[in-house]
Amino acid sequence: MQRTLLVTGAAGMLGRFLLRRPPEGWALRLSDVAVPEAAPGEDWRQLDVTDPVATAAACDGVDAVLHLGGVANNLAATRDRLIPVNVGGTRNVLDAATAAGVRRVLLASSNHAVGFHRRPPGGRPLPDDVACRPDSLYGVTKAAMESLGGFYADRYGTEVVLLRIGSCFERPTSARMLATWLSPGDFCRLVGAALRAPVTGCVPVWGVSANTRRWWSTEGGDALGYHPRDDAEAFAAEVPPEPAEQVPAAETVGGSFPAGTR
Ligand SMILES: NC(=O)c1ccc[n+]([C@@H]2O[C@H](COP(=O)([O-])OP(=O)(O)OC[C@H]3O[C@@H](n4cnc5c(N)ncnc54)[C@H](O)[C@@H]3O)[C@@H](O)[C@H]2O)c1
Repeated sequence: MQRTLLVTGAAGMLGRFLLRRPPEGWALRLSDVAVPEAAPGEDWRQLDVTDPVATAAACDGVDAVLHLGGVANNLAATRDRLIPVNVGGTRNVLDAATAAGVRRVLLASSNHAVGFHRRPPGGRPLPDDVACRPDSLYGVTKAAMESLGGFYADRYGTEVVLLRIGSCFERPTSARMLATWLSPGDFCRLVGAALRAPVTGCVPVWGVSANTRRWWSTEGGDALGYHPRDDAEAFAAEVPPEPAEQVPAAETVGGSFPAGTR
């Protein structure tokens, strides 16, 4: 039986990646505050997640939610929207999903929710479930997103997967991304695994590819059955070397964000 997945923020980059390789066995209900350039298909609705009534209507009749919608940067121009959209919007999504009896919610969190963690000594990988240490106001909103996910899991039994996404772009474009890249294909594999796997409570998982230079654990992904296939190393020759002053940034999860003033 085909089930329905509500995707918020579906007109954005990750939403467009997902359309290339939609999760098997799922029909997609696409939504975004912005109207996408390409025809969005039949089950499309314009949805601002800061509107609780519209968010509740969008959750009606779906089996799971992938919450991608929000402010995906820390730029000055959008900073005032960070808390209303990323925190208020996530609260509305979790609330609406719970009221609609949706069991599974995947939240697009970020490495910047935990950006102040450093590379562990001795080549040990950094666990998937390190505590929040946000590195920016953007990261604070992702930490709040994770906290909301934990609350709805504990209070209402919602199965929540926190996707701690590294750098999900077409290809890596910096030395840092040789470690933190999540390829479009692996993003889709991660979503598929997070929908399929048995989940109890609120589970964090690194959203990162099988990069040679990866230092974030594979354990959380293994537990979900997420098996990434791509390696940023294939692009290493195209990536400019990191300027010397940036090198310490490669040792923190959030790259240059922890040293920023934002
Ligand atoms: N791309 C990455 O490397 C990366 C890394 C970490 C986390 N993330 C997270 O993944 C999600 C998707 O990222 P992306 O790269 O596709 O960003 P994006 O900016 O391309 O897409 C975000 C989408 O959210 C929509 N949106 C904004 N406000 C909204 C609102 N009020 N209601 C509904 N939709 C709204 C936008 O219109 C946009 O289409 C974001 O939550 C982002 O923080 C992305």
